[in-house]
Amino acid sequence: MRSMHYSKRTPEKLDIEVRRPHFDLSSDLKEDWFDGSAFKTAFENAFSLLFPIGEKAFIESVRNFEDQISDPKLLKEIKAFYGQEAAHRKVHQQYNEMLCDLRGYDLVHLTKPQVERHQNRYSLLTPYQRLAATVAAEHLTAILADDLMKNKDHFADQGKSVAKLWYWHALEESEHKAVAFDVYIQVGGTIKGRRKALIFATFFILKDTFRSMFIMLKNDGQLWKIRTWMDGINFLFLKPGILRRILIPWLKFFKKDFHPWDHNNLDSIDYWKRQIPQKSTANL
Ligand SMILES: [Fe+2]
Ligand SMILES: [Fe+2]
Repeated sequence: MRSMHYSKRTPEKLDIEVRRPHFDLSSDLKEDWFDGSAFKTAFENAFSLLFPIGEKAFIESVRNFEDQISDPKLLKEIKAFYGQEAAHRKVHQQYNEMLCDLRGYDLVHLTKPQVERHQNRYSLLTPYQRLAATVAAEHLTAILADDLMKNKDHFADQGKSVAKLWYWHALEESEHKAVAFDVYIQVGGTIKGRRKALIFATFFILKDTFRSMFIMLKNDGQLWKIRTWMDGINFLFLKPGILRRILIPWLKFFKKDFHPWDHNNLDSIDYWKRQIPQKSTANL
């Protein structure tokens, strides 16, 4: 289905950069670093737990089709995509291990459903289905990243290292948001396949995130506090209401001729590029 709609592509002027910053997270992760809120901190930490396994699968799913790609621009973007996702995996693995050490969480228990799903159900998928799963997960990360980048007051304290880590990841997710999608189109991936994948990816990402969040809040003695859930309802649905805010961008993926760059956020990317060092190893 090399559709006529897919003359749309990543903007020519975008250069996907691989940065390798280092974040000193120990003082942030031992406390409720996200605005002092137990809920928001546990939610964001739970989200971090998904990346090491998820991003490994993203890279492999694209690599399965790399030899079918002849467009030099897309091939260059694919290499940058591998570099960015590999760096994210590494940094989030360190984040997750440090978090569990500092707060007494069991990393094996927290990631068990995701590990088992990848060993069992995911391994039975066809290469096309795995690529569709990546395309769908990349849409979710891209719309969350865009929301984070354009709401500069998302974190009350942007100076924290952990906040900078999330901005770095959001910037790179935005830069490479169409790479897996463009590969999927070029190798004949179907609209139906990617739509179905978004339903599954959204379900499993939310399920894993909420499960981990419950475990961490329980461990911290915060699960049954009214304040925790008032914060949670506000954060997810009211003010800022991140799930409410991403609903329309999420739905746009179901359009027949959807392309990630229908939403051009180059201005936001340019802003955050100036805040994040390019190839630094310096502490942030
Ligand atoms: Fe990533
Ligand atoms: Fe990504």
